[in-house]
Amino acid sequence: MKLAGKVAIITGAGSGMGADEARMFAAEGAKVVITDIVGDACRKVAAEIGESAIAIEHDVADEAGWSRVVATALAQFGKIDILVNNAGLTKSDTFDNTDVAFMRRMLDVNIIGSFLGMKAVRGPMKDNGGGAIINIASGLAFTSLPGYFAYGVSKWGVRGMTRLGAKELAPDNIRVVTLTPGAIETPSLVPAVRENAATMIPMGRVGGADEFARVVVFIASDDASYVSGAEFLIDGAMIC
Ligand SMILES: NC(=O)c1ccc[n+]([C@@H]2O[C@H](COP(=O)([O-])OP(=O)(O)OC[C@H]3O[C@@H](n4cnc5c(N)ncnc54)[C@H](O)[C@@H]3O)[C@@H](O)[C@H]2O)c1
Repeated sequence: MKLAGKVAIITGAGSGMGADEARMFAAEGAKVVITDIVGDACRKVAAEIGESAIAIEHDVADEAGWSRVVATALAQFGKIDILVNNAGLTKSDTFDNTDVAFMRRMLDVNIIGSFLGMKAVRGPMKDNGGGAIINIASGLAFTSLPGYFAYGVSKWGVRGMTRLGAKELAPDNIRVVTLTPGAIETPSLVPAVRENAATMIPMGRVGGADEFARVVVFIASDDASYVSGAEFLIDGAMIC
């Protein structure tokens, strides 16, 4: 019960890693607010978990929606200890094929969405004596892979937001950490990565969403009370 008594918001938790994190958070004693742009998906995960979870349909790029998410979390569970900015747009394309509309949407979801989340929980976390914000980046924020122009730029931005946010929020005991998945088994994993894992990944396999979620639990918990501004790669030694 590493998260007993904690209240967490996890975005994009209707699928993949976010859904696994929601299940593991609840199993570790947390109350969980599960949000996703796909309402049916987050409602299904919340229903599976039971009374420790509620679902809210929400596009992370929607600022007014963030007020609703925070107000509902406070009304239902009384405080906010943890935010996992997990929701992400994972579309790939080259620089030449990236138009302004695609670039704007990518930055809106992957950077502005996480920024709005940090802004929205900052007050309640301060009032509560602190908290933990976990931003999910990507291995593509540690390298420059052609064909992932907008996505790569957005995830490099996530790393910067963690570092700057960690310094400014530390006086209020709000920790900000970047967790970086390499190749994790979820619906958005590119099939070629799974097929070539034996040669592409030093550990010879993709990671399980549960293996990633266990790290999220640790960073969200009081065991990591002096960890802030840090970046962790969960990638089977792919980038090092
Ligand atoms: N799976 C991997 O190998 C991998 C690798 C690197 C980074 N990531 C990152 O991990 C995070 C989770 O990815 P995943 O693999 O679980 O993907 P996924 O597609 O299984 O889940 C992402 C969820 O986010 C939701 N979502 C998308 N846009 C949203 C928005 N605007 N507002 C709210 N919800 C939205 C989707 O509906 C989906 O439920 C993402 O940020 C992704 O970029 C994943």
